[in-house]
Amino acid sequence: MDGTQTMTPDLLEQGAQRVQARLAALAESSGQTESGGRAAGFSRINTPGEVDVTHGRILYLDNVSVSFDGFKAINALSLDIAPGELRCIIGPNGAGKTTMMDIITGKTRPDSGTVFFGSTIDLLRYTEPQIAQLGIGRKFQKPTVFEQLTVFENLELALKTHKGVRASMFFRLDSAQSDRLAEVLDTIHLRDDVARLAGTLSHGQKQWLEIGMLLMQDPKLLLLDEPVAGMTDEETERTAELFLSLKGKHSLLVVEHDMGFINTISDIVTVLCDGAVLAQGSLAQVQADARVIDVYLGR
Ligand SMILES: Nc1ncnc2c1ncn2[C@@H]1O[C@H](COP(=O)(O)OP(=O)(O)OP(=O)(O)O)[C@@H](O)[C@H]1O
Ligand SMILES: [Mg+2]
Repeated sequence: MDGTQTMTPDLLEQGAQRVQARLAALAESSGQTESGGRAAGFSRINTPGEVDVTHGRILYLDNVSVSFDGFKAINALSLDIAPGELRCIIGPNGAGKTTMMDIITGKTRPDSGTVFFGSTIDLLRYTEPQIAQLGIGRKFQKPTVFEQLTVFENLELALKTHKGVRASMFFRLDSAQSDRLAEVLDTIHLRDDVARLAGTLSHGQKQWLEIGMLLMQDPKLLLLDEPVAGMTDEETERTAELFLSLKGKHSLLVVEHDMGFINTISDIVTVLCDGAVLAQGSLAQVQADARVIDVYLGR
C-alpha cells in the first residue's frame, strides 16, 4: 500500500452525494425567510468589507449567559476583539470555550446578553448560515474536507457554495478567483499537492486545507477550535506560521490547550473558566496568575 485511496465507483458516488447534500443544505439556508422573502438586512450586508469597525472592535460580547438544564455553561461573559487581532483563548475542559464559539456562530442562542459583529451587526438576529455569509468562518476540531475530491476541487467548492447553489450551476472561476485560489494554496502550503485527493493528505494537511476553504470565502473573523490537536510538532510549527501570516488581514480567535503553540502565536491570552473571563493579558502574565495556576495550568 502506498497510502493512496482507490477510487471505486462507490466512493465516487458517496463523494458526489455528500457534495449534493451540502449544496442542497446551503441552498435551503441562503437567507430566505419562512415567508419566502429575504431577511431584512441580510442582502444589504452580504458584501465583504462592510463590517463597521469604527469603534475598534470586530467582535463584542457583553454579559452573555447560557444554561443547559440549569447549568450555566456561559456566565455573564464579556469579551471584545480588535480588527486584525489574533486572540488566544485557554481554559480547563468544560470552561465554555466551544460554547462561546457556538454562540458567536449562531449554533447556540444565549439566554441573555449582547453579541455584535462590528458596531452595527447584532449577531443574535442572524441564523448560523447567515453568520457564515456575513464573514465569520469556523473551523471545528475534526477536519471536514471532501476526501474524494482533490485539493483544488475542495477549494473551488468552498467558493461555489459560498456564492449559493444557483450561481454555482453556471460557475467558472474568473481570473481574480483563480489568483485567490493560487494565493490560498501557497498560504496553506499545498501548492504541490493541488491535484491530490484530499483523503490522501496527512491529518495536518487536511486541517490546512479546511482552513484554506475558509480563506477562499475571505472571512473577516476566523474561529479555530483546537486547530493543532493531533498534529505532529512540525505541522504545529507550520500552523503557527500560518496563523501569524493571517493576523492583520483577518481577526482570529484561537482556542488551544497546546501552550507551546500559544506561546508562539499569542499577543493577548484570555483565560476562560466557569463560563466567564478569569484572567487576561500576555501569556507570561496569565501564567503567573495564582487563580489561573489553580484552575488550569498547575494541574
Ligand atoms: N448542547 C449542550 N447541552 C448540554 N450541555 C452542554 C452543551 N454544550 C456544552 N455543554 C456543557 O457546557 C459546558 C461547557 O462545555 P464546552 O464544550 O463549551 O467546554 P470547553 O471549554 O470547550 O471544553 P474543552 O476544553 O473540553 O473542549 C460543559 O459542562 C458541557 O458539558
Ligand atoms: Mg471545546
